[in-house]
Amino acid sequence: MRIALVPTMGALHAGHMSLIAAARRRADKVVVSIFVNPTQFGPAEDFAQYPRPFAADCRACATAGVDLIFAPQANQMYPPNFSTWVEETALAQHLCGPRRPGHFRGVCTVVLKLFNIIQPHLAFFGQKDAQQALIIRRMVRDLNVPIKIIVCPIVRERDGLAMSSRNAYLSAEQRAVAPRIYAALQRVKAWHAAGWDCLRIRRALEHELASLPGARLDYAALVDEQTLEDVTQPHRGQHILVAVAVFIGTTRLIDNLRLRW
Ligand code: PAF
Repeated sequence: MRIALVPTMGALHAGHMSLIAAARRRADKVVVSIFVNPTQFGPAEDFAQYPRPFAADCRACATAGVDLIFAPQANQMYPPNFSTWVEETALAQHLCGPRRPGHFRGVCTVVLKLFNIIQPHLAFFGQKDAQQALIIRRMVRDLNVPIKIIVCPIVRERDGLAMSSRNAYLSAEQRAVAPRIYAALQRVKAWHAAGWDCLRIRRALEHELASLPGARLDYAALVDEQTLEDVTQPHRGQHILVAVAVFIGTTRLIDNLRLRW
C-alpha cells in the first residue's frame, strides 16, 4: 500500500487541491498535514494572522477524498527543550533564504518531522515554492530519506495570479494589481526571444515590478534551476528559474517561471 503525504499549512486552495489530486492518482492512501509551522516564520512575519479556516479545510479534504488529516498542536511538534534542527546550507543561501533568515531551517525541520511521523512513500510539493521544493529534494537526498518527492505545476487564478493562501490578505485594489506580477514574468519570455541578456532582463523585470502601484520589490533573479546561483551568461539549453518576490502593501507574494535559454 502506497501512502502519499501532502504537507500544508491549511487555508487550502486550488493549488493544494491539485497536489491532493496528483497524490490520489499515485498512491492508495492520501494524508494531508495541516500545521501552521511557527518555526518557519520570522518575528516580523505573519504567523499570528496566517489564515486558519480548519473546518473549511476539513470539508475540502473530505470532498477531495483525503484519507487522513494530520493536524498537530504546536506543543506536540515542538515540546519543551526542542533543540534539534535540520538545515540545508547551500540552496538556502539564495533567493528567499537571506531575506527570511531561519525560514528554510524551519521548513526542513518540520517537513522531516512530518516525514518521520507519517512515513509516506511519496510527498507532494508545489512549484510555486520552487526553492522550497529544491531544498526538500536536497535534504531527502543528503539525509537518505526514503521518500519520493513530486513537484506539481503552479496553479493560477484566471487572471494569472499564482494561488497562495496569502492572496486572502490583499484588498480589492491590491488584488487588481497582483496579476501584474505574472504578466511581468511573462514578458521575460518575449525579452529572451528578442535576444536580451540576463542583466538587461533582470533590470527590466525589476523596473516593471517596482513600478506596480503599492508594490515594493523584494527581489527579481535569474538563477540556475538546479543550483539557484545567479546566471549572467547562461549557456544555450541551460534551465533558468526566473524568481520574484514582491510586497504588495505588507503582503509578500512570490512567483516564478522556468525558462530554457
Ligand atoms: O509550503 C508550505 O505550505 C510549508 O512550507 C510546508 C511545506 C507545509 C512546511 O510547513
